[in-house]
Amino acid sequence: MVGIFGCILKEGNAAPVVHEALKRLEYRGYDSAGEATIHEGKLYVKKDHGKIDDVHAQHNLDDLPGRIGLGHIRWATHGAPMQVNTHPHLDCRKEVAVVQNGIIENYAQIKGELEELGHIFKSKTDTEVIPHLIEEKLQKGLSFIEAARETLNRLEGSFAVAIVHVNDSNKILCAQKENSLAIGLSETAVYCSSDIPTFLPMTKETVLVENGELVILGDGDYEIRDFANWNQIVRPPKLIDWIPEVAEKEGFPYFMIKEIHAQPACLRSTIRLQEEYLDLMTAFLDRAKELFLVACGTSYHACLAASYMFSKMAFLSTHPVYASEFIEQVGKSVNIDSTILALSQSGETADTLAAVDYARSRAATILGLTNVVGSTLTRVSRVFICQQAGPEIGVAATKTFTAQLSVLAQIALKLAEKRGKVSHVEMEHFKAKLRQIPNIIEKIIQTQEEKVKQIAKKYRDKPYFLFFGRGISSAVTLESTLKLLETNQIPSLTYSGGEVDGDIINLVQPGYPAIFVCPKDDTHKKIAVDIAEVKARGASIVAIIEEGDEQIKSLADDYVEVMKDVPEFLSPIQCIIPLQLFAYYMAVGRGLDPDRPRHLTKAVTVK
Ligand code: F6R
Repeated sequence: MVGIFGCILKEGNAAPVVHEALKRLEYRGYDSAGEATIHEGKLYVKKDHGKIDDVHAQHNLDDLPGRIGLGHIRWATHGAPMQVNTHPHLDCRKEVAVVQNGIIENYAQIKGELEELGHIFKSKTDTEVIPHLIEEKLQKGLSFIEAARETLNRLEGSFAVAIVHVNDSNKILCAQKENSLAIGLSETAVYCSSDIPTFLPMTKETVLVENGELVILGDGDYEIRDFANWNQIVRPPKLIDWIPEVAEKEGFPYFMIKEIHAQPACLRSTIRLQEEYLDLMTAFLDRAKELFLVACGTSYHACLAASYMFSKMAFLSTHPVYASEFIEQVGKSVNIDSTILALSQSGETADTLAAVDYARSRAATILGLTNVVGSTLTRVSRVFICQQAGPEIGVAATKTFTAQLSVLAQIALKLAEKRGKVSHVEMEHFKAKLRQIPNIIEKIIQTQEEKVKQIAKKYRDKPYFLFFGRGISSAVTLESTLKLLETNQIPSLTYSGGEVDGDIINLVQPGYPAIFVCPKDDTHKKIAVDIAEVKARGASIVAIIEEGDEQIKSLADDYVEVMKDVPEFLSPIQCIIPLQLFAYYMAVGRGLDPDRPRHLTKAVTVK
């Protein structure tokens, strides 16, 4: 995933605006950064590999002249992170500049043709074919817009692109195919960006660009065209009510910890889902003959938790499947009777979208749960729910995970109600507990954070961790392992408590930490036995327990308390909090940057 940005200011220099925007886009990639501006019929470019601050320190990105600019923050897919592969890319005459997010599948063929015509390519990127193809068409007498349109129609794959030309110094052409792109409009400028938060500090007025559309951004205006048949599309701007500060760190040292702390507020928003969305989603789920829960990474762990919630609350059995395995594992069995509930906070994860595409081609019903309205997932879903968590900047999913869990819990409740599987009294109790969840999470953070920090300090030099949980808590332990792996590169293992006496016992060593998640649900008795078994081999027991659980306290070397009397279907939301904090404090204590885990980006939009 990478980020693209462009702006035309009424007055002043675009370069510092582009620079600030790229900083906000850094969560999408950070191995290279570049800018291009146009001034008096000339293109100015600065770019290099490295984090944006380093690129700026070396090149001063702010002193490019001109009020029109493009920017790009890169996470390499074609060509290593090197200056030459950094966007913007130019044509031979240095008159056209392009930034792109996505993959041009037929670039090798186009490149071959253009090389035969004498074009000289400098990079190994797929993007570079775009300026050269435009150049070729300009040479044939086409206007900038016609040349760009023909070029876009030649490209196969999925992309979001922004293009400028020296002779059209008051225009940016931007377009997308199966990728995300938004327009921002203010009194003093127009913007395009891979996401909305990038221009939120400047404007809340926005237009989402849809699949197959080209936008001609001019001085204070925009025109949308379908680039295949050139129909004009009228789409007035909408006001986005996210406050700009959500995209800032608000005084926290890292986005990850800011977002962990943001969870109570975020859950307050998430538990206020509109009834009609829940009703609609529930109606589809209720009549599903066969239900697949499909996602990657953290979102897959939310699927796992949902499989317990749906089964236990609403007696609905489901098949959680990794999106990357979906086609191989169950593809052939998918048909018109199948329903796919796809989870993706970004709504852009390539494997999830591929699974969804495949299921659609077999006439299955697609339902979506995502954090990004306007994302591809929302466009391909029959019904979708937005988890309303606001933008998440930290690469490690935290608030979007608990937001997903809370939406799934609400769906499970609705479904149970619809199916008559929960008594009226129980239902009232569950609803009341759901409403308390934001306060519960707030209290856990307030009372347990320091303790978690100390536990992280105690164990931070251990080379691996073992996580154990049973029932719905196995989703929590899997997610905790992922958090530790992505932020600390520590290869931990997660096992069901029931598997303790299998091969895993070989890894239990005196003094090595074994982390148990032990809410007081139906699995509590068994997990206590599992702990005793691991403890007998000398492991250091770290337990996530409910307040006042004296039995487990007496077995544990260290424990963290979550609240008691939280129903099972809500327990993952509270149990994951200390383990998110654990991963964070481990990373910080070990001198790692939790916001920029090695080799990882926020969303895997290409494969
Ligand atoms: C983990 C993480 C990734 C994502 C995964 C799916 O912290 O961020 O594992 O969960 O890439 O992303 P979405 O939910 O955007 O489809």
